[in-house]
Amino acid sequence: MNLKRLFFQPAFLFLPLFSAFSQQLTVDQKVADLLSRMTLEEKIGQMNQYNDDWIATGPVTLDADKAGQIRNGQVGSLLNCVGTARTRKWQEEALKSRLKIPLLFGQDVIHGYKTTFPIPLAESCTWDPELLKKSARVAAVEASSAGIHWTFAPMVDIARDPRWGRVMEGSGEDPYLGSLIAAARVTGFQGTLGSTDGIMACAKHFAAYGAAVGGRDYNTVDMSDYLLWNVYLPPFLAAKNAGVATFMNSFNDLNGVPATGNAYLQRYILKGRWKFDGFVVSDWGSIGEMINHGSVKDGYEAALSAVTAGSDMDMESRSYKNHLATLVKEGKVPVALIDEAAGRILKKKFELGLFDDPFRFCDPEREKKALSNPDHARLAREVAAKSIVLLKNEGEILPVPESVRKIAFIGPLVKAVKQNKGFWDVEVPGVDSSFIVSQWQGLVNRAGADRLLYAEGCKIEGTDKSGFPEALRVAEAADVVVVSIGERRDLSGEAKSRANITLPGVQTDLVLELLKTGKPVIVLINAGRPLVFPELSAKAPAILYTWWLGSEAGNAIADVLFGTVNPSARLTLSFPVSVGQIPIYYNYYNTGRPATTDSNRFYNSSYLDESIWPKYEFGYGLSYTTFAYSDLKLDRKELDAGGKITVTLKVTNTGKRAGTETVQLYLRDKVASMVRPVKELKDFAKVTLAPGESQTVTFLITDEKLAFYNARLEFAAEPGEFDLMIGASSRDIRLKESFTRN
Ligand code: GLC
Repeated sequence: MNLKRLFFQPAFLFLPLFSAFSQQLTVDQKVADLLSRMTLEEKIGQMNQYNDDWIATGPVTLDADKAGQIRNGQVGSLLNCVGTARTRKWQEEALKSRLKIPLLFGQDVIHGYKTTFPIPLAESCTWDPELLKKSARVAAVEASSAGIHWTFAPMVDIARDPRWGRVMEGSGEDPYLGSLIAAARVTGFQGTLGSTDGIMACAKHFAAYGAAVGGRDYNTVDMSDYLLWNVYLPPFLAAKNAGVATFMNSFNDLNGVPATGNAYLQRYILKGRWKFDGFVVSDWGSIGEMINHGSVKDGYEAALSAVTAGSDMDMESRSYKNHLATLVKEGKVPVALIDEAAGRILKKKFELGLFDDPFRFCDPEREKKALSNPDHARLAREVAAKSIVLLKNEGEILPVPESVRKIAFIGPLVKAVKQNKGFWDVEVPGVDSSFIVSQWQGLVNRAGADRLLYAEGCKIEGTDKSGFPEALRVAEAADVVVVSIGERRDLSGEAKSRANITLPGVQTDLVLELLKTGKPVIVLINAGRPLVFPELSAKAPAILYTWWLGSEAGNAIADVLFGTVNPSARLTLSFPVSVGQIPIYYNYYNTGRPATTDSNRFYNSSYLDESIWPKYEFGYGLSYTTFAYSDLKLDRKELDAGGKITVTLKVTNTGKRAGTETVQLYLRDKVASMVRPVKELKDFAKVTLAPGESQTVTFLITDEKLAFYNARLEFAAEPGEFDLMIGASSRDIRLKESFTRN
């Protein structure tokens, strides 16, 4: 056709109008238009997610021709594909497909992409949602610069069992704090979806995965709706209300139905009552794993069960790819269900702007700049220092005085590098570990190498004590001993449940030997979970729980050791005295025969051979200063429906150093239609005070803080008496009052 004729074709004349008009189409109209042009196979392709062949975070299935399937529009998303180069390569393949539908790239950016923040459980101990929003934002800026559109985070599973390795990935045992942190992380990751540094977040694992029997990963979960709605669902609802783009379902069966095929969870609650309009991705292979669960007999039934129950995308099981078309052709699955699932996925691709520019997250220059931004490391250092929990400080041997000349830094984790990243770190292509600040390097940076002496002492595991003499020699030559021990980083995380959560190897023996020197000994415990360490908690004068603090671990530990930062973290997960106490949590019900003290074990709910109390409770953490609470006042003692009570109190820094206190407000509903916990966190305030300074803290009590899901699963406040407790932790209650809800 000669050009002249082309220019005067009617379509061409209307092209500007059409393109202007197409800009006016809503996303939903664009999705509907695209679906109308797709074959059944192409729609099912959008519901199919494969792992890239670079690294795997689950059992791998090798594909004959992944590239060919992508070119044929049979794949909607890849996971574990990172970096502008690699994502560009696969995106180019996807654009060879008939309709040129771009791929979504998903990645477990759980606590940082390159810049690694403390593991989420450690971060949660900051009790600072605004700070966690910033760390998620940095993670998103880095990940989005490396071609990633979607993170499989935040993990918002409530957990009450530290034998479960994935406690490291969550925010502890409390639904109120867990909900605030879930919303903060969603907002941090997503920023403004549609911008080039906003990545889709993913609330996981839906639902109740953290309640696995025995703390054994992937194990059965059986609980009442009463517990599910009041404890395990709230952080998911908070994530949904924060606009989370996706959900991921969980491996566990819940009350006899695998979550992946659970219509109650995904259709009735998530897409029904909560009106969630994003999409649900299965967990790795969880659709096919319903065969193991025994709720389906084969992949055909698994696909039917999952798609009917509202699982929109199949991560790695290939059940949808292999069976959905047959199910549709046999009339078992209506096309409308495929359109709904594929439509939810396509809608996110439009919202991310991937149809306008499939390579908008693929800018190598932006990647290089984002991954070398010094502000990111500075934030990681701040978050890490604020995540360190001071468990003990007898004789105030902490912070280490500047006058101390020789410091012996001993232990198997002193010079470890990658261990500091913890589980669920990202292996960034082309980036080595030199950016990670080891604990040794952190102290060298702060105190100078000439003041430090080193000995490994022992390995993390094993029975070899041959390093003890050298460690003792080094300790004798020093003024202060700092010893860094713990788990290996891969002893917590996915599929890392432990029946005995003790310190591995002979590390405890090493510390006990070092204590015999009579030198001041400061113990750093690095772990992804609460551990049980009765001898050390009894005999070591100072203990800092340093979790896994990420790429600025060394600098953050030095900041706290030397007092540049006064530790302010508070525990978000109870530390048991012994494994026999598990599950142990602060917001327990009173029972008909409550045990109120360890001294009386007569006909009450206690153990004959163990305390009923945790070693370190929810909300616990010390400071280098002290705080006094006084003048608790309520502006009224009766709360009418829809009303509010204003609570004020005074907090004073009674020590010699500036510090930050987390003032915690707990409520107890004394009589209700269902039994209620002996206390529930319902608010908190962080106050930073100079020595001698006081500040008034104000809380508001409204029905929202009194409401709970009752036997009919209605969220409502009930009339009655309430105890109000102000605590420095869930057990260190400083002030009490009560009021009546009319
Ligand atoms: C894993 C985890 C899930 C993760 C996914 C992809 O099995 O359960 O949290 O996001 O697979 O790595």
